[in-house]
Amino acid sequence: MRLGTPLSPSATRVMLLGAGELGKEVIIALQRLGVEVVAVDRYADAPGHQVAHRAHVIDMSDGAALRALVETEEPDLVVPEIEAIATETLLEIEAAGLAEVIPTARAAHLTMNREGIRRLAAETLRLPTSPYVFADSLAEMGAAAEKLGYPVIVKPVMSSSGKGQSRVDDASQLGAAWDYAAAGGRVRKGRVIVEGVIDFDYEITLLTVRALGQSGEIETRFCAPIGHLQVKGDYVESWQPQAMSAAALERAQAIAAAVTGKLGGRGIFGVELFVKGDAVWFSEVSPRPHDTGMVTMATQRQNEFELHARAILGLPVDVSLREPGASAVIYGAMDATGIAFDGVAEAMRAPGVDIRLFGKPAAFVRRRMGVALAVAETADAARDRARTAAATVKPVKV
Ligand SMILES: Nc1ncnc2c1ncn2[C@@H]1O[C@H](COP(=O)(O)OP(=O)(O)OP(=O)(O)O)[C@@H](O)[C@H]1O
Ligand SMILES: [Mg+2]
Repeated sequence: MRLGTPLSPSATRVMLLGAGELGKEVIIALQRLGVEVVAVDRYADAPGHQVAHRAHVIDMSDGAALRALVETEEPDLVVPEIEAIATETLLEIEAAGLAEVIPTARAAHLTMNREGIRRLAAETLRLPTSPYVFADSLAEMGAAAEKLGYPVIVKPVMSSSGKGQSRVDDASQLGAAWDYAAAGGRVRKGRVIVEGVIDFDYEITLLTVRALGQSGEIETRFCAPIGHLQVKGDYVESWQPQAMSAAALERAQAIAAAVTGKLGGRGIFGVELFVKGDAVWFSEVSPRPHDTGMVTMATQRQNEFELHARAILGLPVDVSLREPGASAVIYGAMDATGIAFDGVAEAMRAPGVDIRLFGKPAAFVRRRMGVALAVAETADAARDRARTAAATVKPVKV
């Protein structure tokens, strides 16, 4: 792809759908290549809005509003950063040739619903996953749990970041799990996936990049595996590399290649996998940068956002790891707007530590407001540094 001059007729224009902390970094990477960037989110002054050429506030699940904005802005590429988008409209936009959707409209459509991607992975590709049953009512959910055997995990088919997700240990907890799923899903359809629990040793995100090689064909490359810790379905810490057996790594890469190959297109994918010994299960995939991949801002020659920006523009990528590192989330710790942060200088004074603050206008107790990054001789040592640094940064009301 030829790259133009922003704000001129030759501009290469990219529209980010979602302008959170991940979108913000993709935008910065695109800005460095002279790309004209339009950032879209559902609230004003989102992190990515603050670094884009133009900012728009729309409800991205409203297909008509989304299409109208694409028709006005005429981007070359539309880049989803979140799941909650009118993906049917993305399919239309792509089919009409209005813009290229990254990585493909079908990938965005399939992955926004757990059912689409799970059936693709388990039934079409026959990859190992947790055992699962879909259910549309409390009664169906109970039958599914009996069939799979307790404990089970219940998730709304349309949700992310652990919203509406719960573990059910016996039949007495079914009602609460159903109500929680109904309240936490993006769409009040009440469809859930009931999954058997995988007793994994650890879980990873395998960042997988589909980018043009020298031959002009798409090549698939893998970043070093990222280990992470999830609390209530939300990531709190990640580190890279996660030590794995050669057999497990080979399986993980084969699974990631199969899934991303089926979704197609160019860009980075966060392939979530569970690992026990040499066994690997596919969990889910994001066809975009992954939150646990923020660690790559400290560890890789090209971080996941730069890799995404390059891949979508048809440029070459370098997935190599520079040094071991870790990330730890800095939460809002309160419900307030315009908060401040103390302790940033102290946190940064520790060796190998860096801090990123996202600039979100409003904090919630469990909202991700920033991240501590650290490098060290080993990933374990980096985890200690990142955790300490994150705890040193104190959100304060002003
Ligand atoms: N079947 C399972 N067995 C064991 N653990 C599970 C299972 N499903 C989910 N988990 C745990 O819950 C976490 C969140 O699940 P999942 O990734 O499906 O939800 P999510 O809402 O899409 O989260 P996110 O958007 O943050 O990735 C997983 O990373 C894992 O730690
Ligand atoms: Mg997940």
